Amino acid sequence: MPRILDGNRIRDEITSECRPRVEKLTTLQRPPGLAVVLVGHNPASEIYVRNKVKTSHELGIHSETLMPPETVTTGELLAVVDELNRRPEIDGILVQMPLPPHVDSKRVLLAVSPEKDVDGFHPCNVGNLATGRPGPRSCTPAGIIEMLKRYQIPIAGKRAVVVGRSDIVGKPMALMLLHENSTVTICHSKTPDLAAVCREADILIAAIGRAAMITADYIRPGATVIDVGMNRLDNRADVERIFPAGRPGAAEKLEAFARRGTLLIGDVHPLDVLEKASAYTPVPGGVGPLTIAMLMVNTIDSAERRIVVC
Ligand code: GUN
Repeated sequence: MPRILDGNRIRDEITSECRPRVEKLTTLQRPPGLAVVLVGHNPASEIYVRNKVKTSHELGIHSETLMPPETVTTGELLAVVDELNRRPEIDGILVQMPLPPHVDSKRVLLAVSPEKDVDGFHPCNVGNLATGRPGPRSCTPAGIIEMLKRYQIPIAGKRAVVVGRSDIVGKPMALMLLHENSTVTICHSKTPDLAAVCREADILIAAIGRAAMITADYIRPGATVIDVGMNRLDNRADVERIFPAGRPGAAEKLEAFARRGTLLIGDVHPLDVLEKASAYTPVPGGVGPLTIAMLMVNTIDSAERRIVVC
C-alpha cells in the first residue's frame, strides 16, 4: 500500500506554527487582517471561503467577507478592491475565483495591491516567483511543496510532470518545482500521448479538473502522485463507469454515492493510484487543507512586513 500524504496533518503543523506569530503581532499592535471578496453564489466558492474565514478566526486573524452580487460590474469590483487597498488594518486581500464571465478578472487581480496580494496572483508577484525573488506564492502549489518537504520526498533531480496549465496551480507549480531543482514538464489536454508523458514522472501533479482522468496507465510504478482535483459527481452512471461493479473497493464508493447522492473525487483514479504509487494525496484530505494553511502563512507574512514598516 502506498503512503497516504495527510493534508490535515500538515495543515495542523503549519497552523500551529502560525499561532505564536499571530499572538506576537496582536500583542505588538493588532491581529493580521484578511479581506475575502466573494462574488455571487458559486456553491464551491462559498464552501472554500467559509473554510478560509473559519481557519482565520481559529487562529485569531481578523477576517471579513465582502459579498457583492453576481451582477456586480468590473468598475464596482475595482472600487471594492481600491477601498481594501487603502484600509491600513487589512494586510491581505483575496478575490475568490472564478468571477462571473462579464467581469474582467485580469483587471481586478491587477488592482489588488501587490503588498496585500495573499494569493500571489498579481503579475508583480508572478514575476517575483518566476525570477526567484521573495513575495507571496500561490497557495495551492506552495502547500504542495511544503507537503513534499515535510514528508521528506526528494524533489531535486527528480522528474516532475504537472498536468494542467492554470494560472492558479499549473504554472506556479511548475516554477516552484523548477526552483527546487526538479526536471519539469507541463502538459495539458492538447499534449500528444499524455499517459506516456505522465509515466515519466517521479512526481506527478494532477490539476486538470476531470474526475479520475489519471488512471493506472498514467502512473509510473513508485511515483508520488499529488491530486489537486475536486470534482463532484452527481450522476450514478459516472460513478458506475469509474467504479465498475465487482472491482475491489468499488462497492464502497457506490454505497457512499447512494447515501449522499454525490461523490467527491479527484483528478486521479482513487483505486488505480493504490496499485501504482508509492505515496499519494487522498481527496478529500490531501491538497485542500494545505491551500488554506498557506493562505494563513501569506496573510501573516504580509502583516509582519506591514506592521514592522508602519
Ligand atoms: N479559486 C480556486 N482556488 C483559489 C485560490 O487559491 N484563490 C482564489 N482567490 N480563488 C481560488
